[in-house]
Amino acid sequence: MDKIEIRGGSKLEGEVTISGAKNAALPLMAAAILVDGITEFDNIPDLVDIKSIKALLEDLGAVCRGQGATLSIDASAITKLEAEYDLVRKMRASVLVLGPLVARFGSARVSLPGGCAIGARPVDMHLRGLEALGAEITVEHGYIEARAEALVGGEIYFDLPTVTGTENLMMAAVLARGQSVLRNCAREPEVVALAQALNTMGADVSGAGTAVITINGVEKLHPAAVSVIPDRIEAGTFMVAAAATHGDVLVKECRPDHMGGIISKLKQTGCSVEVIPEGVRVCSTGEIQSTDFKTLPYPGFPTDMQAQFMVLMAVARKNSVIHETIFENRFMHVNELQRMGADISISGNYAMIRGVEALSGAPVMASDLRASASLIIAGLIARGTTRINRVYHLDRGYDAIEKKFSALGADIQRI
Ligand code: EPU
Repeated sequence: MDKIEIRGGSKLEGEVTISGAKNAALPLMAAAILVDGITEFDNIPDLVDIKSIKALLEDLGAVCRGQGATLSIDASAITKLEAEYDLVRKMRASVLVLGPLVARFGSARVSLPGGCAIGARPVDMHLRGLEALGAEITVEHGYIEARAEALVGGEIYFDLPTVTGTENLMMAAVLARGQSVLRNCAREPEVVALAQALNTMGADVSGAGTAVITINGVEKLHPAAVSVIPDRIEAGTFMVAAAATHGDVLVKECRPDHMGGIISKLKQTGCSVEVIPEGVRVCSTGEIQSTDFKTLPYPGFPTDMQAQFMVLMAVARKNSVIHETIFENRFMHVNELQRMGADISISGNYAMIRGVEALSGAPVMASDLRASASLIIAGLIARGTTRINRVYHLDRGYDAIEKKFSALGADIQRI
């Protein structure tokens, strides 16, 4: 199994180009199911999660072709309406095929996503939403079965702003008869990107990016070309790494307007964050200042940046408190950071971090995607060598990460 080895101490300097967003590409690829024809994509990142959804779509009968960052999905030959356990268990986002399958074919059988390291992550809101659109749902033998002769527009109220839930229901509602109103929706840029793509395919979706999304159902969608937005979490990860190593990095081809929470927090740590036409330049020279934060749905500070930012706070001047409000078990990186000398204590979903002068390299274990990214940043600033095990988590969501860090001057290699 691959490991990543890092010798800490290098300042990151130079430019890095951000890839397409995993969490935008996955729903967009699922949306291709809605079209009886070919959807063309560009800026698709090279990630294991993308390969997983491709494998799932191919298993349903879609034909996927692509080279580099381009991909075409021909969903005209879909015949199978079942997403099997072996494909879904690899990636929870596979549940995103549920809405489009029911909308276009009137039925679907999708394995319930299994447990997840970062929290329970139920899909109850996805299912209640589909019921509100007239689907009959049963959950049996580990599978969700959804059936509807034809979906009909309805009112959906999300208890919490769920990202993939909003996306699943938006995709279901575009082909429903009549108007659907989705309330308390997630406002993430990935939701907006999906709504825009659906509209390019002929849907009538308005309000994405606000808490209320209105969808007027149309009879069918047509083939279209879709470009994936840049990955704000990949960009944020490089920005935090630049700050932590006291480096000077230009993060190119990103969307600063999608990163308000991250940029504002980074500025509070005392580093310079400059938005320029080419991207965002992060430059850090002085001491890192401590700052408290709380993870929140967009536009709040993203939970997907919590672990990386915690590393920065671990070597900051004073104490800070992080409140994780999205997932109940997203502090698994803490044990590993403690093994590297960080002074962090946990109480429920709060972490108290007392800044230390330096971290020390150690063998560590990655527990999930963003935790892996935090361990890389920790390794970059630690004294000595850090060896990260279980890096397959990293390959799910970061495109060529060690190559990108290496090009910025990090001493990092995959072994
Ligand atoms: N929730 C429910 N019931 C549901 C759906 C969600 O209780 O039916 C709860 C969740 O357990 C959680 C909260 O609602 O406590 C919000 O979860 P959400 O549904 O928004 O998460 P998600 O859609 O499963 C997406 C991203 C995650 C990211 C979260 C939060 C994708 C493919 N995944 O997950 O990304 O952390 O939103 O922003 O978009 C990652 O990339 O590392 C990652 C985990």
